[in-house]
Amino acid sequence: MTKVEQNTPIFLRACKREPTEYTPVWLMRQAGRFLAEYRALRRQYPFLTLCKTPELATQVTLLPIEKLGVDAAIIFADILLPLEPMGIELEFTKGEGPVIHNPPRSRAEVEKLKAVEAEKDLHFIMEAIQQVCGELKGQIPLIGFSGAPFTLACYLIEGGGTRDFVRTKSLMYEDPPCWHILMEKLSAAVISYLNAQVRAGAAVVQLFDSWAGILSPRDYEEFVLPHSRRIFHALSSKVPTIHFATGAAGILEQMHAAGGDIIGIDWRIDLGEAWQRLGYEVGIQGNLDPAALLGPPERIESRVAEILHRAEGRPGHIFNLGHGVLPQTPEENVITMVESVHRLSRDQ
Ligand code: CP3
Repeated sequence: MTKVEQNTPIFLRACKREPTEYTPVWLMRQAGRFLAEYRALRRQYPFLTLCKTPELATQVTLLPIEKLGVDAAIIFADILLPLEPMGIELEFTKGEGPVIHNPPRSRAEVEKLKAVEAEKDLHFIMEAIQQVCGELKGQIPLIGFSGAPFTLACYLIEGGGTRDFVRTKSLMYEDPPCWHILMEKLSAAVISYLNAQVRAGAAVVQLFDSWAGILSPRDYEEFVLPHSRRIFHALSSKVPTIHFATGAAGILEQMHAAGGDIIGIDWRIDLGEAWQRLGYEVGIQGNLDPAALLGPPERIESRVAEILHRAEGRPGHIFNLGHGVLPQTPEENVITMVESVHRLSRDQ
């Protein structure tokens, strides 16, 4: 191995499916509510203020690096931020999560949505990325991210979170041309946003399609795949890309066809089985149930061991939870998990 390769951070090598001396690990939502310091900051500032103040966003991004020993940082931001410059009124209310006050539901409202120029409209995120990269000095890679057009469309049309996605699916089935106009606008915004993050210094990007698993494979192919594919095409060969969804056992092959160097899975599917279905020319990220971190250390360690066993030490496994870390998770349990992943994968 050349010196240059040895100096490349382990997370980046795993993203390229190169062999590593241990399995890299990070946690979705690691820069958030389970950290005491984050909760203290939130008593001082509203969530959107934290996102829009580069010094504060930098501070939150770096917290898990200092405290947990993870192999990657993820920029502190939110998937819904690019909706604001499109003309959407976004609010994060206590207890309820995000609320969109003017959800577009007609053709006329969809057509009114504005194009995003991320470098200008979301400059605060690019500034935070530059600051974080300055602090991390290339030792720990920074992950940039965006919501995928489908998951963004769900929040946009529903006006917030939902259990049944009825409004979203109604628009999809009742007026497919309008649906595709909306998805095209969102895809253009995502491409501008992710490209700007890469230019600012993000070493890897993750596309969160958290809700894609609610669709049949056939509907995913018709209504989502062409749009997500366009995003991966626009990014291809710039930086490694991670394509994540939950409940995606039914659409794994379609997600892979849309793109991504690494496919992120949740815990409802066996990692070995998922990887076999996807083929080993793609990497895999996952897949511990976030609730496992509420159990005792011995059980955390045994679950980590099982997942590493299912990955069989193949290059291209990035250890993660199957979804975001739960706010009630004790910090010491996360440290146990990170330490177990590193120790057990070295021994493998
Ligand atoms: O991973 C990280 O730590 C980076 C920061 C990050 C946040 N949100 C910060 C946040 C990331 C990657 C996200 C992604 C995100 N946001 C997703 C995709 C991942 C997933 O969980 O499926 C989604 C669907 C959202 C939308 C969103 N933002 C919701 C539904 C909520 C409220 C409920 C919740 O899960 O927290 C948010 C708020 C939010 N985003 C918080 C944080 C730290 C909590 C805000 C607070 O302090 O009250």
